[in-house]
Amino acid sequence: MSKVKLSDGSYMPIEMHRVSTVHPIRLIPVEDRVAALDEAGNCSYNLKSEDVFIDMLTDSGFNAMSDAQAGAFHLADFAYAGSESYYRMADKIREILGKERFVPVHQGRACEHMLAKAFVKPGDLIPTNFHFCTFQTQVRLLGGDLVEMLQEKGMVTGGEDGFKGDYDLEKLEKFLKETPLERVPMIRIEAGTNLIGGQPISMDNIIAVSEIAKRYGVRTLLDMSLVMDNLHFIKTRDAKRRDMTIREIIREMADAVDIIYFSGRKLGFARGGGICMNDEKDFLAVRALVSCYEGFPTFGGMSSAELEVMRVGFDDTMDADVVSQGPDFIEYMVEEFRKRGVPVVTPAGGLGCHLDADRFCEHLGRREFRAAALAAAIYIVSGVRCMERGLSSEKHEDSICPFELVRLAVPRRVYTISHINYVIDRVTWLYEHRGMIGAMRWEDESIETHLFTDYIRPVGDWREKLAAEYKKANLE
Ligand code: F0G
Repeated sequence: MSKVKLSDGSYMPIEMHRVSTVHPIRLIPVEDRVAALDEAGNCSYNLKSEDVFIDMLTDSGFNAMSDAQAGAFHLADFAYAGSESYYRMADKIREILGKERFVPVHQGRACEHMLAKAFVKPGDLIPTNFHFCTFQTQVRLLGGDLVEMLQEKGMVTGGEDGFKGDYDLEKLEKFLKETPLERVPMIRIEAGTNLIGGQPISMDNIIAVSEIAKRYGVRTLLDMSLVMDNLHFIKTRDAKRRDMTIREIIREMADAVDIIYFSGRKLGFARGGGICMNDEKDFLAVRALVSCYEGFPTFGGMSSAELEVMRVGFDDTMDADVVSQGPDFIEYMVEEFRKRGVPVVTPAGGLGCHLDADRFCEHLGRREFRAAALAAAIYIVSGVRCMERGLSSEKHEDSICPFELVRLAVPRRVYTISHINYVIDRVTWLYEHRGMIGAMRWEDESIETHLFTDYIRPVGDWREKLAAEYKKANLE
């Protein structure tokens, strides 16, 4: 019951928790927001969190813990080796994911580092439904590369297909037929798919990928960082699985693949990560690297306290009302924006509400950093921090950047419906004044490969003019 039906027939998401610990937030004046942006080089990653009113940059490590999680903190066994916390977490993985072997690793990209080091050699190619930047970087550093296999339906910001993260199975089959298999160490599946607006992959598609992989004798690797949202979408959009519990759905998914890794900053509401599998040889290869790069393999670079928090977070995740908390808020935002004509990625995905900056800022050129400009403008008119997902965070001129998105992430259990309504209101105001959003360019254009934290500069004084117009509206 994470949505309530109101007496006018409409639905509203409702928080299925009450709040017992709070963190104060403040909205600094609009002139100070322009100054904070200056100091941050107009890049939302560089803003100080004390200058942020509502933080929708990411959910990573920022989801709120439950009371049970906070209590579990104190159960930690900090023994260097053989910690009870490790064994409790390994049991939880066995219970929920059915994988016998677990190695903690301090966050998602560190899992990717270990996996790439263990399995990738120069010239290797790894199919994936869609790349995630951290995994792509790890593989490229080792001389390999990813091959995108997303179906066409995922490469557009519109549409209503419920599973836009699906693999193109024919493309995968053709690729495996034509590529020497010693160059294909694994087939990667991302559930859900981050960079295309948090869109989910269907269970049938995961199972089909797994069957193809088995036929060719290639291991499957599943990135479960965003699986909470994906579980919700399978439960609500896949008629065959509507009556299954979250526990049954995640198990069916886990059983279909060989190796699972996750960012525990997302799955598990903690600040950690881990890799699990059944195969002993693969496990020993990964574990040896964890000892070398992360820490002893029973804590893997994490605090044992976070292992306990993550374990209870896995239990929390088995509750459909917890799993739906992000997607229900996101769906509400998407529907409200659509009513107001604000361009968003459809259907609603996970992780956040994604604005389509190409359509929002169509008066700007494709190389004028529409998403970066929109993210800066949103901060000016609301104090809301969001994430640019486009040209400036994809770094390379030639890399796949099919669209310019701005992500308003919805960390679970953190914000209430009044925060969400505020964001909808201010972004709508901005949309009505979108012509005032101007272009951006790199501060130092001589750098060839930019980082997503690099300073970017407005072309002209459009930020100041926008701030003045907002002030005139007398909304604060
Ligand atoms: N895989 C996916 C699908 C992710 O979304 C992330 C992180 C990672 C791996 C890496 O995990 O941050 O623990 O090292 N995504 C964050 C985000 C950063 O906000 O999109 P990590």
